[in-house]
Amino acid sequence: MAIQWYPGHMNKAKKAIAERIKSVDMVIEVLDARLPASSANPLLAKLAADKPKLKILNKQDLADPERTVLWLTDYRAQPHTNVLALDASEKQAASKIIAACRSLVPNRHGLDRPLRVLICGIPNVGKSTLINGMLGKRSAKTGNEPGITKAEQRLILADDFWLYDTPGMLWPKIIVEEAGYNLAASGAVGRNALDEETVALELLDYLRRHYLSLLQLRYQADLSESPHWRDDNWLEWIGKKRGALLSGGRIDYQKAAERVLTDFRDGLIGRITLETPNQWAVWLKKGQMQEAQLKAERAAKKAARKS
Ligand code: G4P
Repeated sequence: MAIQWYPGHMNKAKKAIAERIKSVDMVIEVLDARLPASSANPLLAKLAADKPKLKILNKQDLADPERTVLWLTDYRAQPHTNVLALDASEKQAASKIIAACRSLVPNRHGLDRPLRVLICGIPNVGKSTLINGMLGKRSAKTGNEPGITKAEQRLILADDFWLYDTPGMLWPKIIVEEAGYNLAASGAVGRNALDEETVALELLDYLRRHYLSLLQLRYQADLSESPHWRDDNWLEWIGKKRGALLSGGRIDYQKAAERVLTDFRDGLIGRITLETPNQWAVWLKKGQMQEAQLKAERAAKKAARKS
């Protein structure tokens, strides 16, 4: 799928993050609990490889609780990593995050040794909502400070807890095809960069294989027939059920696609997670193999041109 989503400001954000990472003690990575691996920025994994990390699986209220447990277990096994599953509206979210940071880097406290934390996340994972919760009634000290670029903000949550906020950043190339679809389904990718019908069909394909009963329930589908439906049968059915019709009763597939994506994003189909650690491992391997093949083909073409 051709999704182009790397506008110039993302490059600026990347530079700001690369620079700031050198001077922080740890990194908070906000992920979408419905697509933890797809929403993890591989650039960040590289830039922050040697920093302690707190991974936050946000929007857990929309995710499949059983799969959230799988992801928590998977992340807990990683070195120097703490992980929390949260719903940004939880009252305790802010204090849980601060406590998890302090426990990751216990030696940084007091006025002369503030804990310096960088918070990152791709667009729409709920980073601003979490930060606002952490700020509470505190007024954020931000603005023109030496060493603070326009692409970041320094928020002083306590005299010895500084949070550097960076703009939501995506990465230039997605090698895992499924990650592209999952990001698009979640709403992380701007509308102009995607074909909603394709994204909806991919989403329906996953849902009918893994969450069939939720689909049947939400769209009141015939239980005896719908297990055999293909993705396009589902889109047609949803178009009928959700009033996405053109004149003469024909299905408006674009509108039907928008409806199913909105339903998914708002949690109306149910609590759904679009990937498990095992599925991700398979997809990643496939993506890496395709990437390696592509590189080899390019190198062969270049060599042929030269000779
Ligand atoms: P960002 O800074 O990472 O880009 O994300 P932001 O906080 O702006 O949140 C993006 C959307 O996700 C917002 O909804 C926000 O309310 C919602 N959101 C954030 N955290 C959670 C969560 O834990 N659970 C759920 N269910 N939703 C969450 P919006 O519709 O774009 O805006 P609004 O209607 O809240 O104004």
